[in-house]
Amino acid sequence: MFNLKNPVDLEFGAGTLNLLANKVSHLGKKALLVTGRSSAKTSGAQDRVIRLLTDSMIDVVIFDQVTPNPLASTVTAGARLTIESSCDFVIGLGGGSAIDAAKAIAVMAVNPGVITDYQPGGPLSLIIPQQALPIVAITTTAGTGTEINRYFVITNDTTHEKPGFGYACSYPTVSIVDPELMLSLPTASTLDTGVDVLFHAMESFVSKGATRFSDMLAEQAMDLVLDNIQKAAGNGQNLEARTQMAWANTLAGWAIDLAGTVGIHSLAHPISGHFNATHAKSLAAVGPAYFDYNQTANIPKYAQLAEILGLHDHDFELSDDDKAARVGQLLHHILKVLGMPLSILDLGVSEADLDRLVTDTLATMRGGLDNNIKPLNADDLKAIYQHAMHYHPVEHHCDCHE
Ligand SMILES: [Fe+2]
Repeated sequence: MFNLKNPVDLEFGAGTLNLLANKVSHLGKKALLVTGRSSAKTSGAQDRVIRLLTDSMIDVVIFDQVTPNPLASTVTAGARLTIESSCDFVIGLGGGSAIDAAKAIAVMAVNPGVITDYQPGGPLSLIIPQQALPIVAITTTAGTGTEINRYFVITNDTTHEKPGFGYACSYPTVSIVDPELMLSLPTASTLDTGVDVLFHAMESFVSKGATRFSDMLAEQAMDLVLDNIQKAAGNGQNLEARTQMAWANTLAGWAIDLAGTVGIHSLAHPISGHFNATHAKSLAAVGPAYFDYNQTANIPKYAQLAEILGLHDHDFELSDDDKAARVGQLLHHILKVLGMPLSILDLGVSEADLDRLVTDTLATMRGGLDNNIKPLNADDLKAIYQHAMHYHPVEHHCDCHE
């Protein structure tokens, strides 16, 4: 028994940005355009979007103040500008940061207080915003999947907590996924965003909320990432690889909308919030330790995951128990090849920080923990962080002669 609703009107494929004015003309006559500080300008995407809109008599107000790990104060400033300039809808142009900020701005333009009031423990945390201005997502990266789901992540300037939000009103009304916009994405960002996609797919696959439909999305997304991430990173102009990564991103973003993430995103967000590490690097640094800790939670599912991640041919004869035990090791190997950090020490975390990280995980990222098949208490979380400081893949011996 499961639900399949998704309200996003999404255009996918090379050249779809040209449909923009047509797709948004019913949303109003004035748009707030939310971007980061430079990449949308240098790539020319910002100018293209402005031209497409103004040629169709839609006024554009630019808000280009979004930083990586977007801040609550930025959302407040954007919402104020939206109100003062009477914008009818909000466009996020960029990666997850710009689009997540656009979602939060669209919500806060028509709801009381500031976004942090709605985070767990905040004064309005029990209130579910019921409306937002229409949101348009134009994604220039293949990561986060925010163009197809309700979620957005905003960092609290004061506490450095990094809670995720998601409401029925925060789905994009229209999304444009045009892989041509991703051709200029630098190698490091290509790898970071692609690793985020891999984690969305892997986490939804082993979540309590997984269904046969979300599994179908996740399996396809994992295959596409594993086949294409190095091609896209190695040659950014490879439109075919960019298209496959973009599709993997949309599939995995939908998978987490349906099935949710699990403990890895929960453990990673506080690291990004406190140490300003990228989202993907935080995920990579805790991922293998997490899978080692949880591999007995659903043996058949973890065994299947090991096969997707690339067991050797001779390992297909193993028992499901043994396959499941290899997931952390296989992921560690993939992340090593991609040059991801393999320890949270690499991100600046020390033993003295762990209690604070555990407290933050429990306070702000409870949803992912509740979605974990195996219950995770504070001691479990600390044990995973400790393992993630000095991760050693479990040694598996075989009698093969490769
Ligand atoms: Fe993510």
